[in-house]
Amino acid sequence: MDNINENFEILKKTQENEVAIVMVPFPAQGHLNQLLQLACLISSSYDLPVYYVGSATHNRQARVRANALNPSDIAKIHFHDIPTPEFASPPPDYNALRKFPSQLQPSWDASMLLRESIDSFLRDISSKARRVVVVHDTLMSYNVQDVLSLHNAESYIFNCISVFTLYCLMSLSVGISLQLDEELLKKLPSFEGIITDQLKNLGASQIPYMDIRSGDIHNSSKVIEGAFLDLLAQVASKQEKKQWAIGPILPTKLDCVANRNNMCLDWLDKQPSRSVLYVSFGTTTSFSDREIKELAMGLEQSKQRFLWVLRDADRGDVFTGEDRKIELPEGFEERVEEIGLVVREWAPQPEILAHSSTGGFMSHCGWNSCIESITMGVPIAAWPMHSDQASNSFLVTEVLRIGLIVREWEKREELVSASSIENGVRKLMASEEGDAIRKRAEELGEVVRCSTENGGSSQIELDSFIAHITR
Ligand SMILES: *[C@@H]1O[C@H](CO)[C@@H](O)[C@H](O)[C@H]1NC(C)=O
Repeated sequence: MDNINENFEILKKTQENEVAIVMVPFPAQGHLNQLLQLACLISSSYDLPVYYVGSATHNRQARVRANALNPSDIAKIHFHDIPTPEFASPPPDYNALRKFPSQLQPSWDASMLLRESIDSFLRDISSKARRVVVVHDTLMSYNVQDVLSLHNAESYIFNCISVFTLYCLMSLSVGISLQLDEELLKKLPSFEGIITDQLKNLGASQIPYMDIRSGDIHNSSKVIEGAFLDLLAQVASKQEKKQWAIGPILPTKLDCVANRNNMCLDWLDKQPSRSVLYVSFGTTTSFSDREIKELAMGLEQSKQRFLWVLRDADRGDVFTGEDRKIELPEGFEERVEEIGLVVREWAPQPEILAHSSTGGFMSHCGWNSCIESITMGVPIAAWPMHSDQASNSFLVTEVLRIGLIVREWEKREELVSASSIENGVRKLMASEEGDAIRKRAEELGEVVRCSTENGGSSQIELDSFIAHITR
């Protein structure tokens, strides 16, 4: 009896004194994932209560696709499901030359209806906790504006893009010229047309509410983007916001994670060291039948081993609609049986990249993929599709020099032929130049992984953020 009372007292005390952390993600896979990763990291390493707030559908999406996370860590996150507003969930237009995932726009528009539900949730938590710390996506600034009316709440923006991209976009928007080496500047891809006007407008409608935040968190680190963190600090100095560069803190012991029984990993186990090109274009890219045929032929002709995740882009609601039956060239899978594997399911990407048989990553260069590849020391064959992917691929290939370009951003509306794919793959996987790139990638991966350990820069920054919010 005494024991129960005592426990109850402890429970009550912690709740009253506690700092509650509320994550408010934007409903697109890369964004959902990053805040879920951060939620698990904070709740498991610092033992603080973490809430994850979004529509029921997108919370479910975040949970079922959680990569490289321990189920027991996910179980500690308090998911707050807001009834999902109605929205259209059309299939992607896989024949479109422009790869921007416009089919997601209705789900993004619907997410702008969550303000009231988020406000009432925050009010509730605010009455129970010592302090409420909201960590939100830039694109959810409008929705969390009511933190202003709570006496014990504060908010932070979590940036899901590279510091380099953020620095470029901020400089361009205020008309400051980019502080880049002249040679580099010439090669920088244009930011024209990277997103649609609709998303631009959605972004612009957040600006009036962005000043509410107390600081910024970046999913990058000094060892990856130190120069750009400094440059960003200069551009942003007038804003007087605190900055933390805490990423990437990936679970480094990926072997212990739930996914060990997976066909991709079983297949990789049987391949020689660093021999496999992992091919995946994330959750927002769809290819036409013709493009798939060229890619299949290019991979086959390269004679390199590959693991290809062949999936269509997400719909706004990933639980609706039928999957398209993507056809591969006649007899393809039989012919490549010895050297290639095609997978149509959700794949455990971090574990694949961490696997010693993986020696390259053909990628659209979304920031999640870049971070994972950089951390695991895997060089990238870059094929940017939209949004920040062109500037990420520039960062990876020209600045960090741990990858090469398969398809130039400037040629994004042209068909990529099998022979240029073949050449790109050969160059990365079977040439001296490729070996040099791989070596640099491995070295950077090592440095990045060290930075996430105790005493490393990412860990210090994360500790400093936690110390700040629990002050
Ligand atoms: C940064 O992004 C990577 C890739 O998605 C993720 O694994 C990592 O946990 C993120 N870091 C933080 C601090 O959220």
